[in-house]
Amino acid sequence: MPSETTDAPRDEPLTMTRPDFRNLPEAPPPAGYGIRPLRADEVAQWTDVQRDAEPVMEIDDGLFEREFGADAAMIEQRCFVAVTDAGEMVGVASGWHSPESHHPDSGRVHWVAVRPSHQRRGLARALLAHVMKEMANWHGSAWLATSTSRLGALRLYLDFGFTPEFRGDGDRAAWRRVAEALPHPALLAALRNP
Ligand SMILES: CC(C)(COP(=O)(O)OP(=O)(O)OC[C@H]1O[C@@H](n2cnc3c(N)ncnc32)[C@H](O)[C@@H]1OP(=O)(O)O)[C@@H](O)C(=O)NCCC(=O)NCCS
Repeated sequence: MPSETTDAPRDEPLTMTRPDFRNLPEAPPPAGYGIRPLRADEVAQWTDVQRDAEPVMEIDDGLFEREFGADAAMIEQRCFVAVTDAGEMVGVASGWHSPESHHPDSGRVHWVAVRPSHQRRGLARALLAHVMKEMANWHGSAWLATSTSRLGALRLYLDFGFTPEFRGDGDRAAWRRVAEALPHPALLAALRNP
């Protein structure tokens, strides 16, 4: 008799693109919150928000510097945080750029996270709207990397006009599996295109 598998579903990498910054949804922060630039001396708080929110990956103390380097001016220009009126950092998102990537000229939505105790209040939507507006100053298009298990984030990105990229052999199959759990009209439309 075959043994029952207890493996968790695979979390597969995905990428998405937005060809321009037109028609971005308006999304101000909800009452009681604001959005401001991250200060370069707040990396420990940024890491703590990621650690609190992240369901899949290990978040180590060196993550921020590996991903964003140490150029304080660049960090303060492109990394943003959501804070409560009392000043607590509860969400983070960056409008970064990755010249070494397959989208060297595009802006990159990077490392979006909201503390679980502050989720579903519109903070990620507001952070994304904010970083998209900022990136429009420097780039003509945007992209991001995410993964199949992040259904809430995928729904948000699809609502924001990001569409799936089909690059590698397995990408279309991975997006089809996402569509079974998240039958978003924009995803279904993308999957219908050859
Ligand atoms: C994804 C994440 C950033 C969303 O943060 P949030 O502040 O709760 O999101 P918002 O309240 O702004 O939600 C905006 C929309 O996203 C979608 N969404 C967000 N979380 C969702 C969830 N758990 N289930 C379904 N849809 C969800 C919904 O469409 C939601 O709109 P609605 O509340 O009007 O239905 C947060 O869940 C998180 O930090 N997750 C872990 C880190 C992560 O995966 N980041 C993305 C990396 S690519």
